[in-house]
Amino acid sequence: MTHPVAIRFSETDIETLASRAGRIAVLIGAEGKMGPEARRLNRLTKGAVARAVASEAFGKLKSAEALVLGWPTGLEAEALHLVKLDRRAPQEDLRKAGAALGKALGESGVLVLAGNHPRADELAFGLALRAYRFDYHTDEKPVFGAVEVMVGKPEEVAAKAAPHAALAEGVFFTRDLVNEPANILTTDDFAARLAAMQELGLEVEILEEADLEKLGMRALLGVGQGSTSPSKVVVMQWNGGPKGEAPFALVGKGVCFDTGGISIKPATGMEEMTMDMGGAGVVSGVMRTLALRKAKANVVGIVGLVENMPDGNAQRPGDIVKSMKGDTIEVINTDAEGRLVLADVLWYAQERFAPKAMVNLATLTGAVIIALGHENAGLFANDDNLVGDILKAAKAEGEGAWHMPLQPAYDPLIKSRLADIKNTGGRPAGSITAAAFLKRFVKDEVPWCHIDIAGVALPPGETTLAPKGATGWGVLTLDRLIRDKFEG
Ligand code: BES
Ligand code: MN
Ligand code: ZN
Repeated sequence: MTHPVAIRFSETDIETLASRAGRIAVLIGAEGKMGPEARRLNRLTKGAVARAVASEAFGKLKSAEALVLGWPTGLEAEALHLVKLDRRAPQEDLRKAGAALGKALGESGVLVLAGNHPRADELAFGLALRAYRFDYHTDEKPVFGAVEVMVGKPEEVAAKAAPHAALAEGVFFTRDLVNEPANILTTDDFAARLAAMQELGLEVEILEEADLEKLGMRALLGVGQGSTSPSKVVVMQWNGGPKGEAPFALVGKGVCFDTGGISIKPATGMEEMTMDMGGAGVVSGVMRTLALRKAKANVVGIVGLVENMPDGNAQRPGDIVKSMKGDTIEVINTDAEGRLVLADVLWYAQERFAPKAMVNLATLTGAVIIALGHENAGLFANDDNLVGDILKAAKAEGEGAWHMPLQPAYDPLIKSRLADIKNTGGRPAGSITAAAFLKRFVKDEVPWCHIDIAGVALPPGETTLAPKGATGWGVLTLDRLIRDKFEG
């Protein structure tokens, strides 16, 4: 249900501009500097471009913003975007300028006149990310017209754009998974989509309930036992690094729907819990990108896929389950299910792969939204270097991330009278006690970071690079982390 856009880079040809249909975008440099393309458009429009660029409105625009002229005289085009973008504009502005065009993109397509801008590929990347659409409308076909970017050296720009294609595909894979409703994206369907990635060279294994039972994953299995969808753990390996080198591990919460279970959630807004597999979605998108760009690193992605439903067989508040690690857990609230799933998957990842570092992603708590809103994901770690590297990668990719505290002082909040630990610590510091719970299932010697993406996976409105719906937050950050820290 998604409609990717194809982008072509071609040599600049200003002769055909008068007869181009659709939209035309042209870059205007600092202080209103017009290149040959803008000057040609100016002649065709009898000076309208120069007048617009000299206007107060254009002067007031920030970098990456545009003045849009509708149905300009002298052109066939339906709109002319005068985009304020200097040659030295940062990556963020290039993507943002492209995103505005991606948002406006329709059936008639767009021609971008990027001149000899050295990073026109970044603009095209922003355009592609924002042009993403996802819906189940039957009454309209949101097909995109051609997207053509005219540049001085098309081969050079196309070469720079190639890695972005792998990234965009990973981001779209994540967004699709998160946007899919739970009647479509069942645990079976999710696992099948991951198994299909074997075609890309990933090694994919699906552990079924009987396997999980043998491994002793009673914490994970307890969450899924009220659902008719079978619980699964999917292991994806990308071994593009040195043979035998310990992998970097990514672990994701994949709750395909979270009703809360017997501790059922209120009806209002419950439909949003189709996104509760967002952590698993990001892990899957990153693995896809790594395979597509043939990353030179060993990375294992492991997702726990379950559905949290109330039924006669469902887990109850008060139940005590034994985790794969061997620790007993008192289930106070069946709606604090993500940490139960992750406890077993984190332990499995360490026992089987002895990873050199481990990051897990999860739409884990509503409390992280209270703390950080929809601007930042919450980072909780046992290792300052790892969290520093992730913050750096997130900043470079324009994805909000904030380091939250994780200190032993919070541990008493999840002490249980009857078991080794309980699965909720009450309202205070809700996202921290969730992280403290996970920490119990992480070995001290493994550098680890938990990323709570509840606020950023599916924000209430559009973002710069995504329409309303799933953002795919984290794919860019983690791919960059892997590139910077685990490759070469
Ligand atoms: N999946 C939810 C967290 C969530 C809330 C994600 C809002 C996205 C948006 C999680 O399983 C949950 O229900 N957490 C509870 C924990 C509580 C019972 C301790 C919460 O945050 O209320
Ligand atoms: Mn829940
Ligand atoms: Zn949940």
